[in-house]
Amino acid sequence: MRLDKYLTQCSELTRSLAGVAIRQGRVRVNDKVIKSSSLKINTQDTVLLNGQALKDKIGPRYFMLHKPAGYICANSDEQHAVVFTLLTDEINLHKLHTVGRLDLDTTGLVLISDDGPWSHAITSPKHHQTKAYRVWLSEPLIADAEQQVATGIMLRDEKYPTKPGTLERISATEVILTISEGRYHQVKRMFAALGNRVIKLHRQSVGGVCLDDNLQAGQYRALTPQEISRLGKASS
Ligand code: URA
Repeated sequence: MRLDKYLTQCSELTRSLAGVAIRQGRVRVNDKVIKSSSLKINTQDTVLLNGQALKDKIGPRYFMLHKPAGYICANSDEQHAVVFTLLTDEINLHKLHTVGRLDLDTTGLVLISDDGPWSHAITSPKHHQTKAYRVWLSEPLIADAEQQVATGIMLRDEKYPTKPGTLERISATEVILTISEGRYHQVKRMFAALGNRVIKLHRQSVGGVCLDDNLQAGQYRALTPQEISRLGKASS
């Protein structure tokens, strides 16, 4: 991460004020005054602003990532690349977690943070945060699928039906499903229970916050203060 960005994350400085502090010689990296804003900082570096160490002040951090297929929502994995490797401009990646998970082959919106209570407000079933998925199916969808999703579907090996959701048809084999739970492989299992098979799955939104159209697969950005507070509030 660039030195000026690091300063904005670890202090109250804006990017331009961080540049001023650097040019004025008020920033030391590993005991040397540094006057270049673009110097790359890593986790081993000690950064002082006005003589004060900044290292532990980073966070809380909130990001949205456009997850590509082939990446896993875990902090480490022996077989697959983990989503955190896509956060190329961030440090202390081990402090971050994904807010819920998407399967290896699922694409779309993943929220990432280091704020546990905030993540809990999004994932806790009590808070009924909605998640919208675009779903591509192997077979034309049966006629009463909307009704079954609305009343709840009994998944294999589960005791209770799914909570009411909504289904919007785009074509016979393409739909948008909105649900407010996050059971294991829930979307794939719901369509399996409807006699179908998901061939492609993309998450479009969580808690009313949509994946930013400007983010290509693999790109991420910080959430806005409005998005952070909207997601952190229980919807009921
Ligand atoms: N439901 C699934 O089946 N897979 C996902 O990745 C997300 C929801």
